[in-house]
Order: sequence, then C-alpha cells, then structure tokens
Amino acid sequence: MRAGFGFVELGAATPRPQPGNPKPRLFRLTPDRAIINRFGFNNDGADAIAARLAARPPGIPVGLNIGANKDSADRAADFAEVTRVAGGSADFLTVNVSSPNTEKLRDLQGAEALAALLDGVMTARDALPRRVPVFIKIAPDLDDAALSDIAAVARNARIDAIIATNTTLARDGLTDPHRSETGGLSGAPLFQRSTAILARLYRETGGEIPLVGTGGIGSAQQAWDKLRAGASAIQLYSALIYQGFSLAPRIAEELDTRLARDRISLPELTGSGAGDWL
Ligand SMILES: Cc1cc2nc3c(=O)[nH]c(=O)nc-3n(C[C@H](O)[C@H](O)[C@H](O)COP(=O)(O)O)c2cc1C
Repeated sequence: MRAGFGFVELGAATPRPQPGNPKPRLFRLTPDRAIINRFGFNNDGADAIAARLAARPPGIPVGLNIGANKDSADRAADFAEVTRVAGGSADFLTVNVSSPNTEKLRDLQGAEALAALLDGVMTARDALPRRVPVFIKIAPDLDDAALSDIAAVARNARIDAIIATNTTLARDGLTDPHRSETGGLSGAPLFQRSTAILARLYRETGGEIPLVGTGGIGSAQQAWDKLRAGASAIQLYSALIYQGFSLAPRIAEELDTRLARDRISLPELTGSGAGDWL
C-alpha cells in the first residue's frame, strides 16, 4: 500500500480454505522477464479473508479477486458465496473466470455460464449493505466471438469494469528452460497479446464499460500503451518481481509528466490508440 499504487487487488478467495497446488508452483523465467505460476487459489477461505479485510487500516481501495474451490460441486454458486461473505469488506470485487490453474474454470467465460454466474453474484452483491462494484477478469486466450459474447453479457449484467487480462497458456518466443511448466504465463511476453485483447474489447464495448489493462506492464511507456489501447486504469504484478517496489511511483510520475506535456487528460487518452492494435 505504501508502494505508490492507487489501488490493490488481493485473492483469489474461495468459499472454503484450500492449499492450492503442490510446490514448486512458481517459476521465474529470468531471461524472458516472465513468470509461470500454477498456485491454484491457495487461500484461507472467505471468512478469514473477510475478517482481515474488515480489520485493515484506512488507505487506498482494496479489491477482492473471487474464485471457486477446486472440489466445488457448483462453481458458480461459489462466486456468489464469496460475494455474500466477503463482498461487504472489499472496495470492489473481481469475478475471476480466467485463471488457468483450476481445471475448467475458464469454461465459465462462455456466454450462458457467465450470465448465470453473474446473475448469482449480482443478487448477492445487491443484498450487501452498500453497493460494491463488480468487475470481471478475462483470459487473453479468447477469440473475437468469445470477446463480443463477454462484452454483451457484461453489459446486460451491469458489470462495472472488465479486467484484461489474466495469464496466458501460450508459450511463444520463450527461451528459459522452465517454459514448458504447466501454469499461466505472465510478464513481458504477455504484453502484446493482452494489449491486443484490451483494444479489441475497447472496440467491442465502445468505451461504455471501463477497462482495466493488465499484462506485461514493466515501464511507463507500456502503461501509456495500455491506456491508449483502451484502459482507464492499469494493474501490474510480474514486473514487481524483476524491478522491485519502486516501479509503481516511477510509472505514475512519468505518466503525469507525459499527460501534462501532451496536454491530454486520462479520459481523452483512453482508447485513443486502440486502432493501432486492431
Ligand atoms: C504468482 C501469481 C499469482 C496470480 N494469482 C492470480 C489470482 O489469484 N487471480 C487472478 O485473477 N490473477 C492472478 N494472477 C494474474 C495477475 O493478476 C495478472 O493478471 C497477470 O499476471 C498479468 O499481469 P503481469 O504480466 O503484470 O503479471 C497471478 C499472477 C501471478 C504471477
């Protein structure tokens, strides 16, 4: 929180605690500036996480990423359950239907399954004492038809923002011997793919739903590119592992300088270069 971020997201939280996959489950691909992880939602469960969130000191907004238990009989119901238990303690909720590390979780991105899942989440959210915004987070490995389905479902469900993207199953252009490890790939090699998806989603949503750009950001230039491709906000993770915690304020300061120099506001910048990626 003192690292200069405007907001953070933690999780994923599942209804019941679970240990995640056996170790090793995180691999640094140092020459590729990439990470492969297959954590599999190791977490203390929604009750414990809700208590920790509720006890946090005041500060920047904290979002909670929501997942389903690996052995759940009804995964869609898990998302509603975490919303019910922990939603009131978070500043926003992220429906994570895009992790590659829980088998078949990504199938929940299909139009029908997603609409039903979001219906449950929104009903649980509407029963909370205050209106907590709900985001969905998508995979980078989606074709145009799937993206337009997701945009339509998100619009109908009145989703507050879409986060693009989670980690990829692709393994193009990697050199590190760990490249064949099972899991999701993040970091530098994800940048092109996730930014192209972001731009396509921006075209699909016409700026109607705010987009959060995530995937491979390691510099102010890349943050700028995500904003131009369609993002209203950005998130990063893997680059922290390689560049350390001074990265966020460095990027934020450089973005401020560039916005002032180009006499452009953030809303004007958002999506102004989406065409470059289509
Ligand atoms: C170790 C690790 C664990 C992650 N766990 C989650 C998770 O629980 N839920 C989620 O939505 N994304 C998770 N992600 C994906 C990141 O939030 C992010 O979408 C992805 O890494 C792309 O951004 P980056 O290239 O800046 O890392 C994880 C990524 C890493 C590296």
